[in-house]
Amino acid sequence: MLDEGRTRVLPDPPEAGGPDLGFDRSVHMDHYGTRLPFCCVGAKGIVQRFVELGGPHAGRSLDVLDASGGYASACLGAGSPVIAGALRRAIEDSGYVTDEIASLERGRVLARLFGPGGLWSDRFPAGDYHVSGRNSGSEGMELALRLVLESRFDRRRLRAAEGREDRNVILAFEGAWHGWTGALLPLINRRHYRAGLPTLAAEPYGITVEHIPFGEIEAAREYFAGNGHRLLAVFIEPVQGDAGILTPPPGYLREMARLCRDGGALLVADEILTFAKTGGFFGMTDDEGPIPTDVTVLGKSLGMGVLTTSMVVARRDLTVRETGAVATSDLRPITCAVMGAGIGHIHAEGLLERSREVGGHLGTLLRREVVERFPDLYREARGLGVMHGVELTESAARDVPAFREHMIRNGVYVEFMAGAGRRSHGLRYVFPTMRVAPPLIVTAPEAESIVERIAAGSEAIREEAR
Ligand SMILES: Cc1ncc(COP(=O)(O)O)c(C=O)c1O
Repeated sequence: MLDEGRTRVLPDPPEAGGPDLGFDRSVHMDHYGTRLPFCCVGAKGIVQRFVELGGPHAGRSLDVLDASGGYASACLGAGSPVIAGALRRAIEDSGYVTDEIASLERGRVLARLFGPGGLWSDRFPAGDYHVSGRNSGSEGMELALRLVLESRFDRRRLRAAEGREDRNVILAFEGAWHGWTGALLPLINRRHYRAGLPTLAAEPYGITVEHIPFGEIEAAREYFAGNGHRLLAVFIEPVQGDAGILTPPPGYLREMARLCRDGGALLVADEILTFAKTGGFFGMTDDEGPIPTDVTVLGKSLGMGVLTTSMVVARRDLTVRETGAVATSDLRPITCAVMGAGIGHIHAEGLLERSREVGGHLGTLLRREVVERFPDLYREARGLGVMHGVELTESAARDVPAFREHMIRNGVYVEFMAGAGRRSHGLRYVFPTMRVAPPLIVTAPEAESIVERIAAGSEAIREEAR
């Protein structure tokens, strides 16, 4: 159990059910089926102060190291003065025009990222790409899907575009995760999330989604050889997140880009999770440099932990019919100010370069101090940058809720991914996986403490199982 940094911030609980925090927690819909008995009462950097809400230790506070980063949305941790300053200035000065009117903040940030000499202009030169903003990752993916679907549609004749009639298949990957909204459900290949829900009308321009295993070059080549002519698009996560932080072998992503280009299919990269987490801004990168995509969706950390936003970067010839993609939240001045300040700070401070180093150290420690020491609980650790996964063993995977609580009680907040589960082509089952993905600002000593605390939590789980 964690001893240091623990202070009582709440009075003793009035009854065994937990301290009276002055609110009814059940008003917030329960999305997990088991609520963690903790409340966050404040945070600074990567330290979060949690209070236990029930049980024998109700009311006790714990300072917990954050290896979740708010589901990977807070790359600068909590309370960044850079972001606080940008937000304050934007609220005071920038206004709130929507996409109908150009804004100085939007113009500036887009020029800085995509304009000549811009930070991302090697990958997405403004002459070839245009961008749109959405509220969330899921909405960004919905827009990506719309762009793909409309690419097959002749707006003048109101029917399939010539030569695209037979392209009615989208290829996704086993274990894929792209969001919860209706049109994305077929992409995620989890039957139990879809069963019983009405499907979207398949006519007159129906689309089918097919899945192949991720990271298997031969399976992809074989698929394209037989089906390339039917393919409209491929949706890919450069590192599969919910599948258990599965990293593809070297060359795989570039080969996918080549197969798409040669086969006339659009390549959509879901970089919502990977944005600024793989040691660079983009996961679609290899030793040769940027891997070309037709559409890229960024999210989570793009909002720097204070705003929820996403950005869709698409080739200019990919569009949605007039007014068909207007959104109240499209790159508002405040969003642009926060995004621009955060990205500028990450770049100027070399946080990505540092995250490669600290992340490498974190990965080594997870293998040595967690997987090797607890083979009964963990099967393997993998990842890159500051995004790592530690896969549970089959027996440990039966009680994920126990892991969630024990880790917090031992001073570290981690998340658990579903794992890719059953896969085709004779590939092994992938079990639920602990995601260890601290904010970019994590230091080497903090990474070491994260691993020590995970090891202490693992001891406690073992102890309980005895
Ligand atoms: C790879 C990926 N795509 C899409 C999403 C959906 O993003 P949001 O939760 O912002 O809608 C997520 C969220 O976890 C994700 O990890």
